[in-house]
Amino acid sequence: TVARTGDLVRAAAERGAAAGAFNVVTLEHAEAIVQAAEDADVAVILQLSENAVRFHRGAAGPIAAACGVLARESSTPVALHLDHVTDDALAGQAESCGFSSLMFDAGALAYGENVRRTKAAAERAHAAGLWLEAELGYVGGKPDAPRSAHSPGVRTDPDEAVGYVRATGVDALAVAVGSSHAMTAQTATLDVELIARLRERLDVPLVLHGSSGVPDEALRAAVRAGIAKVNVGTALGQAMTAAIRRSLDADPALVDPRKFLAPARDAIAGAVRHILNVLG
Ligand code: G3H
Ligand code: ZN
Repeated sequence: TVARTGDLVRAAAERGAAAGAFNVVTLEHAEAIVQAAEDADVAVILQLSENAVRFHRGAAGPIAAACGVLARESSTPVALHLDHVTDDALAGQAESCGFSSLMFDAGALAYGENVRRTKAAAERAHAAGLWLEAELGYVGGKPDAPRSAHSPGVRTDPDEAVGYVRATGVDALAVAVGSSHAMTAQTATLDVELIARLRERLDVPLVLHGSSGVPDEALRAAVRAGIAKVNVGTALGQAMTAAIRRSLDADPALVDPRKFLAPARDAIAGAVRHILNVLG
C-alpha cells in the first residue's frame, strides 16, 4: 500500500526504531527493496535521488511511476521520497510523480542563502502537501558535490540546527554526525552523543545519510540515540554489482540479461533485509 514518508518516519520514531530509506537506481532495485520489506513485514521508503533522475535522462516520471505501482501492490506500506534535490524544477515535479516527500539539498550554499532557498522549498512543498527534509553540516562523499559551505568533517552544531529548523520550517533534518556518502567499507565512526544532544534539542526527526559506511552496532546505537530515518544506497550497489560480476565471470557466453539481473536483484533484497533487521 502507498504510504507517506512523514507517517512512516513518525511511526518508526514512536516505537524507537528508524524507517529504512533505500536508493532506487533501476527497476530491479525497487522490486528488490519492496520484496525485502514484504519478507520482513515492515514499511519501507523508496527514494530516488536527483542523480538517479539524471541517469534516467532527466526524467523522474517513468521510474517513479514504476515505484508507485510497486507501492500500490505491496502488502506492506511503501512511501516514495525524492532525494538530494538541488533543482527547483525537479522539486516542483515531486507531487505529480507520486512522491510524498523530498530532501532539498542546499548544503553547498552559505548559511544565509541555504536558509533562504530551503525556506522557499519548504513553503512550496507544504503547499503541495509534501514533507521536506534538509541537511545541515557536512556529510561528505556525494558524487558531483565537491563544494560544501562546511569544511570536511564539520558536524551539525545543535545551536545552529535549532535556529535552522526554526528559520526554514523543515519537517526533518539530515545531520552530520560522522557518516559519509559512498563508503564501501563499514568503517565510519558515529558521534552517538551528538545524535542524542540533537535529538534533545530538536523537535523534528533526524535523518542519517551515508549509512552504508556505518557498522551494524553503530547503526543500532544511532537509532537508539534518536535517528528516525536511515538512508542506504551504496550497500545496494555493492551487492548488485558483486552478483553481476559473479554471473558474468561464471559464464563468458551469457547473453540474456535476466540471467545476471535476477541474482543481482536477489542480492539487493538480501542487503535490504539485513539493514531492515538492524533497524528493528
Ligand atoms: O541519500 C542517500 C544516502 O545518504 C545514501 O548514502 O550511498 O553512502 O549509503 P550511501
Ligand atoms: Zn544522502
